[in-house]
Amino acid sequence: MTRTVETTPYDDQKPGTSGLRKKVPVFQQKNYAENFIQSIFDALEGFAGKELVIGGDGRYFNREVIQIAIRMAAANGFGRVVVGKGGILSTPAASHLIRKRKAFGGIILSASHNPGGPHEDFGIKYNADNGGPAPEKLTDAIFANTRKISSYRIADFDPVDIDTIATTEAGGMTVEIVDPVTDYAALMESLFDFDAIRRMFAGGFRMRFDAMHAVTGPYAKEILENRLGAPDGTARNYHPLPDFGGHHPDPNLVHAKHLYDEMMGPDAPDFGAASDGDGDRNLIIGKGIFITPSDSLAMLAANAHLAPGYQDGLKGIARSMPTSGAADRVAEKMGVGMYETPTGWKFFGNLLDAGMATICGEESAGTGSDHVREKDGLWAVLLWLNILAVRGESAKDIVTKHWTTYGRNYYSRHDYEEVATDRANALVGELRAKLDALPGTRVRGMTIAAADDFAYHDPVDGSVSEHQGIRILFEGGSRVVLRLSGTGTSGATLRLYVERYEPDPARHDIDTQEALADLIGAADDIAGIRGHTGRDAPSVIT
Ligand code: G1P
Ligand code: ZN
Repeated sequence: MTRTVETTPYDDQKPGTSGLRKKVPVFQQKNYAENFIQSIFDALEGFAGKELVIGGDGRYFNREVIQIAIRMAAANGFGRVVVGKGGILSTPAASHLIRKRKAFGGIILSASHNPGGPHEDFGIKYNADNGGPAPEKLTDAIFANTRKISSYRIADFDPVDIDTIATTEAGGMTVEIVDPVTDYAALMESLFDFDAIRRMFAGGFRMRFDAMHAVTGPYAKEILENRLGAPDGTARNYHPLPDFGGHHPDPNLVHAKHLYDEMMGPDAPDFGAASDGDGDRNLIIGKGIFITPSDSLAMLAANAHLAPGYQDGLKGIARSMPTSGAADRVAEKMGVGMYETPTGWKFFGNLLDAGMATICGEESAGTGSDHVREKDGLWAVLLWLNILAVRGESAKDIVTKHWTTYGRNYYSRHDYEEVATDRANALVGELRAKLDALPGTRVRGMTIAAADDFAYHDPVDGSVSEHQGIRILFEGGSRVVLRLSGTGTSGATLRLYVERYEPDPARHDIDTQEALADLIGAADDIAGIRGHTGRDAPSVIT
């Protein structure tokens, strides 16, 4: 039986770059999730009888919302839902399922790298039929719907057994529970030289993969250990837990410090990696060397042709504006297009769909390619393994040789979290107001060459996205970028991105924060970060 339930709007359901993210108690309010899901459906057209993919990263409240989404999909007229067993689907695996099955779209339940649990974060996002995040036009329409919703439709049937692989009927709709790993693993096998990687493991190569008790555990277990023959125990923390074991499933040097310490220690394995809550981010650490995501993007792009899936070369490379320019040098040498987009994966979608870019990446540990329409943590790990296996060199050697060839882009991001929103806005407002006056002025011995508020003109659909971050460029190619996070769930997060290009190999082993100290000081002089935030130091440095 299908019911129409009367409801009233919530005024805080504006989806950000990665869907709607709120604390669990917010999502637990009466009709809160239902309102948002109905607002998604009401923004779509022509899905009657079509297929919807549903899955999530396994965090607290995942299973409840999956049942709600299934019942609402039935009531709204979808013909079939495809659900990952146990409610599990990593974000890249969901993107692949949507594409492979030519589904109408998908609902992914995740708050990415944010913590999970009864008082932590939850999220809902919609991906379109290309497998990518909903474009801005669609998220705007969804938001508009949330402001005027007066009812939603839901079918009444018993909770679907999502823990058994089976195809059943419920509410006049087909419900198919699928293994969340199988199709994704097959895709990886089609892109990478599994034989070469298998030989490398058989030859004694050792790695650690930390799934951080999040969604990539089952994927890593199956692909790394079962298919590639890595020793048992290569994948750590591989059981997805609703609260991620009480940790932040954020693969950075703060939350994966244990991995970093191990990789820098005397008994370090050859290679270390981790992924986040929903499996789209990656952390890459070679024995004795951390590889920044910006560098990793450049190095993966430079070596991608060593993997079967990319043997014909790249069509182009795309990076988000705050990501370092390391990849630009690779694109230049290859003679392929380089695209600089605003922060957020959705901006890569058009370039990938149009065949203008093959590989894309963000400084925030997101790397991916045209194999799906999301960033993909395990994909990046497997491409690294493929490169290591074919080149037969250590990660550290590959990195230092890359710097010798292209120069090194010293790079760091400083985050000021939970800053009072009005203070953060004041900082950005004042900075914007003085941008025109900055060029030509000198700060700490450096001359500002240009300053602007980044605007992106999409070369595919012609759309313009303004106010995407403030760039201050110095003579010689160094730069600082400031922007406010679009994904935080409390207060404002100010991000400061600092980059310095160093061509001289004799100067490639300076400590990163030291190499960037003048620029960090200059950013504070220009933007008044300490004064505005009242903080002496950032909350997180990556
Ligand atoms: C952050 C990252 C950005 C990424 C997004 C979603 O967004 O900086 O690169 O695409 O998370 O994972 P932000 O909080 O900076 O808006
Ligand atoms: Zn994520």
